[in-house]
Amino acid sequence: MDTVVSGIRSTGNLHLGNYFGAVRNFIKMQNENNCYFFIADYHSLTTHPKPADLHMNIKQVLAEYLACGIDPEVATVFIQSDVPEVTELYLLLNMNAYVGELERTASFKEKIRKQPDNINAGLLTYPVLMAADIIIHKANKVPVGKDQEQHLEMARRFARRFNMMYGVSYFPEPDAYNFGRQLVKIPGLDGSGKMGKSEGNGIFLSDSADEIRKKVLRAVTDSGPAAPNQEPSEAVANLFTLMEVVSDRDTVTFFKNKYATCEIRYGDLKKQLAEDIIKFTAPIREKIVAILNDNVYLADVVEKGAVKARASASATIKEVREIIGYKSFR
Ligand code: TRP
Repeated sequence: MDTVVSGIRSTGNLHLGNYFGAVRNFIKMQNENNCYFFIADYHSLTTHPKPADLHMNIKQVLAEYLACGIDPEVATVFIQSDVPEVTELYLLLNMNAYVGELERTASFKEKIRKQPDNINAGLLTYPVLMAADIIIHKANKVPVGKDQEQHLEMARRFARRFNMMYGVSYFPEPDAYNFGRQLVKIPGLDGSGKMGKSEGNGIFLSDSADEIRKKVLRAVTDSGPAAPNQEPSEAVANLFTLMEVVSDRDTVTFFKNKYATCEIRYGDLKKQLAEDIIKFTAPIREKIVAILNDNVYLADVVEKGAVKARASASATIKEVREIIGYKSFR
């Protein structure tokens, strides 16, 4: 059995990008693998959440994981900060992560551009903590979206470097994983780029039907195809990409044909897309609400997950300390 690890930061509700990029794969993998799915709440501190919000954000993502179908009886579902062993591995890995390579990471460079007033050391070493999350359970596979590809590459490198440094083959090199296909990138509704939590271009699993309709109808398009069989602009291609994940084949083909023959009306496309998204998210949304009200269940899930995750993490830390040369005086 392979070991699978993946997590999502607790910085807001899950959107369609999180679902199709990550959570859908979690569910498909949970029965055939030894899975650890967690909420990356240490990572979320890079954006300085208010104490009053932190807990709610964690709870929300947890309820959303469960509502999507992650089964805590099968997978280990836990909160990152409940497993402080990961911070020890993070410290140890930091000693052989180089500032130069961390500064060159695409996500770090993007943060420098987007939040110049808060370039904290946690952002710089974000990939090291992420590597620690993964290799502390000796994971082989990491289901993530396309945006995490480079972080995964770094996790592989840090694992390899540790092995080289101490002349061991202790950590496996984890692979980024997507079921059957390439890593997916779910676009946003603003015409370009991926769907994100902070970009204001996302549809959340917890959005109401009305919110979804409003958002989709406002989505960026263009002035329409000028000639038959034209390549759609990025904005329109993005709507088709979304349609491909939520609508059935015939619907997609129907609108693609309409586009190819220049008969498309974007209003119709959007209406259909909105309804198909609602059909998909409505049952999940209902479950989210029910689970959020069940504090006893949530507490049980978290406690059980923490025990299982800590057992695995502390076994690794014990071995890592020995490899590094920490010895008992007894
Ligand atoms: N960086 C991931 C994201 O932003 C979250 C994450 C943290 C993660 N640690 C991880 C993902 C370990 C997979 C494995 O979505």
